[in-house]
Amino acid sequence: MIVCSCNRLTHHDVEAAVDGGATRPKEIYASKGCKAQCGNCTSGIVCLLRQALMQRGNVFDLSAGLAAS
Ligand code: FES
Repeated sequence: MIVCSCNRLTHHDVEAAVDGGATRPKEIYASKGCKAQCGNCTSGIVCLLRQALMQRGNVFDLSAGLAAS
């Protein structure tokens, strides 16, 4: 499922990024060599990121990674 239409990121990309060590939204984008553009996907990315981290038992603090850069 596409979760970011600007960058064509899928939910699989989010999970792969988390498996690769990503803990912040901007690290999800960076894992695919892109960054947030319109920002419409940010809340969805945060939700998927939080879910993936929880499934892996990771502690997370998303407050530092919400700003699109
Ligand atoms: S939909 Fe992801 S940056 Fe636009």
